Amino acid sequence: MNDCLIFSGSANTALSASIAGYLEKDLGKMGRNRFSDGEISIAIEENVRGKDVFVVQSTSPPVNENLMELLIMIDAFRRASAERITAVIPYFGYARQDRKDKPRVPITAKLVANLLTASGVNRVITMDLHAPQIQGFFDIPVDHLFAAPVTTAYFQNKGISDLVVVAPDVGSVKMARAFAKKMRADLAIVDKRRDGPDEVEVVNLIGNVRNKTAILVDDLISTGGTIVEAVDVLKKNGAIAVYASCTHGVLCGDAIAKIKNAPLEELIITDTIPLPPEKKLPVIKVLSVAEMLGEAIKRIHLSSSVSSLFI
Ligand code: R5P
Repeated sequence: MNDCLIFSGSANTALSASIAGYLEKDLGKMGRNRFSDGEISIAIEENVRGKDVFVVQSTSPPVNENLMELLIMIDAFRRASAERITAVIPYFGYARQDRKDKPRVPITAKLVANLLTASGVNRVITMDLHAPQIQGFFDIPVDHLFAAPVTTAYFQNKGISDLVVVAPDVGSVKMARAFAKKMRADLAIVDKRRDGPDEVEVVNLIGNVRNKTAILVDDLISTGGTIVEAVDVLKKNGAIAVYASCTHGVLCGDAIAKIKNAPLEELIITDTIPLPPEKKLPVIKVLSVAEMLGEAIKRIHLSSSVSSLFI
């Protein structure tokens, strides 16, 4: 692994350090500064010529800062003659605008893919994309990883009986179905209609949750509206306990207040996005995906199979 170098952006240095720890490596040395007008200044402080460089950066809030920093870092590696540059983007932001769902709107997921490619990145590793087809927005290899082996193992250890896995909206059905299969549980679906970007209206529940323990499964929790509304529906329909498992804890707006007041046994998130101390609640449990990302990096560097991680 000598020719493999791991660098970290500033979005999630703890996760980067854990990935480097798993690979028994130190993080690459990089100077990071600001010009007086706020522009980002980067300087790579070690030789990367001919190296296989992995740069870890979630495009989580502050999204624009973190995205721009990632692009600038990639540009620096390319100009420093790295042999191959892989962007490790545990949380891929701007993914929810993945199609024109009304006239005159952008497709930001495609725009970000274009920006990354233009910056000179050769490969992308990401996790639980909002829509798996975003992989096709790139014409470079994308390794799309899943947090499910980590999250399902957590729930399997709890030994819950009479379990039902619930998709909190139609968009999450595929993810919830895979989760349910792994847990050997039934599947239910909350049919959610959204009137505005941050408005949630739940209209229907498909499936039976009565006298069962439910696990809501989603790619991300942002304002918490989707999950909290779904918890309410499940309780009203007779679920005895409700857990939620969301890979990316964006947790913005009044998400924390909503979660605090919801009859939720536990909210499981992963460390793709750091959870600051002021957002920590006893009900929120963070699982680490560092080993999975580290193992994927190792396998890519050694040209071995990544998909076999998920069999
Ligand atoms: C929606 O399609 C996503 O999978 C999430 O359900 C949604 O983005 C979560 O947002 P919020 O927590 O703001 O309801």
